Amino acid sequence: MKEPTGYEKLGYVPEIAHVLKAVPMTEQEIFLDLRLPGKTELGHAPGQFVQVSLMGIGEVPISICSSPTRGDTFQLCIREAGTVTHGLHRIARYAQLGIRGPFGKGFPLAELFGRDLVLVAGGLGIAPLRSLITYILDRREDFGRLIVIYGGKNPRTLLFKEDLADWDKRSDVELIVTVDRGDETWQGRTGVATEPLAELDLQAVNTRAVVIGPPVLYRFAAMALFEHGLTPETIFFSLERNFHCGIGKCGHCQLNDLYVCQDGPVFRLARLLDRIEAVEAWAPEEDQDR
Ligand SMILES: Cc1cc2nc3c(=O)[nH]c(=O)nc-3n(C[C@H](O)[C@H](O)[C@H](O)COP(=O)(O)OP(=O)(O)OC[C@H]3O[C@@H](n4cnc5c(N)ncnc54)[C@H](O)[C@@H]3O)c2cc1C
Ligand code: FES
Repeated sequence: MKEPTGYEKLGYVPEIAHVLKAVPMTEQEIFLDLRLPGKTELGHAPGQFVQVSLMGIGEVPISICSSPTRGDTFQLCIREAGTVTHGLHRIARYAQLGIRGPFGKGFPLAELFGRDLVLVAGGLGIAPLRSLITYILDRREDFGRLIVIYGGKNPRTLLFKEDLADWDKRSDVELIVTVDRGDETWQGRTGVATEPLAELDLQAVNTRAVVIGPPVLYRFAAMALFEHGLTPETIFFSLERNFHCGIGKCGHCQLNDLYVCQDGPVFRLARLLDRIEAVEAWAPEEDQDR
């Protein structure tokens, strides 16, 4: 086997992955199933991301939405936002993409083991959370209660509908899906994700919470969780920033003294308390509802 060069070891050189499946999910998102050469496993942990490059166009960070417990392929859910994601939406089966990573610190699995878990996602936040949920379901006996709250703008924007239906059927998952605005097809709950969060009955001392979503979700979700007795030590946020290198070299993702690409994207809230304004202030112009 070829000895990796210094640049390869540092994570600068992409691997070529093959697209096994490219399926539209909604008007804005596409689902990709990918495999590395020789069926090499990606070796990720839930909550990590990869840098995805489209030859001749550019590179973007994307969360891995599948669990490492599920075989030698890995999956991504990509929203069309601009140049690279537009190109990725036009990718076909058998196409090739560059993949660097996995990078970043994922969810604190060791701390989640044995606990009751409250997982809150808004919009595209369900993508990284799906990786964690699938992981938990594959090791269900290692965890306590599993409460998943997922909020979308309207029924058409909901992602992973088949997974939602499967989770809903299980007696060991407490799934609450809510949309800001229903339509004639919608028989579920309406309202923002923090409303059902406030209604939960939790034993705070053994509970850990994870929140991923648009910047506006973080403050209100944290307030609702504090009401239940959770603390900044027991709440985790997964953040987004504009990334460039993904490996702590360029500073594009900096949040004061933190590099979100390396120190995160998952952070204990206690670590963000003196930076909370920066967490909330950041949102891509046209994409406040991620
Ligand atoms: C850790 C991390 C995980 C991510 N996971 C996912 C994922 O699972 N699925 C997914 O679809 N997207 C994800 N994103 C966002 C994705 O990286 C951006 O949408 C993408 O970089 C935009 O690139 P572009 O070339 O398509 O758009 P550009 O042409 O660069 O920009 C077009 C628009 O997108 C906005 N934009 C730029 N960066 C981001 C960003 N980080 N988030 C949101 N909007 C952005 C710009 O402000 C601009 O308005 C993630 C980002 C990070 C940092
Ligand atoms: S993206 Fe370059 S330092 Fe984080």
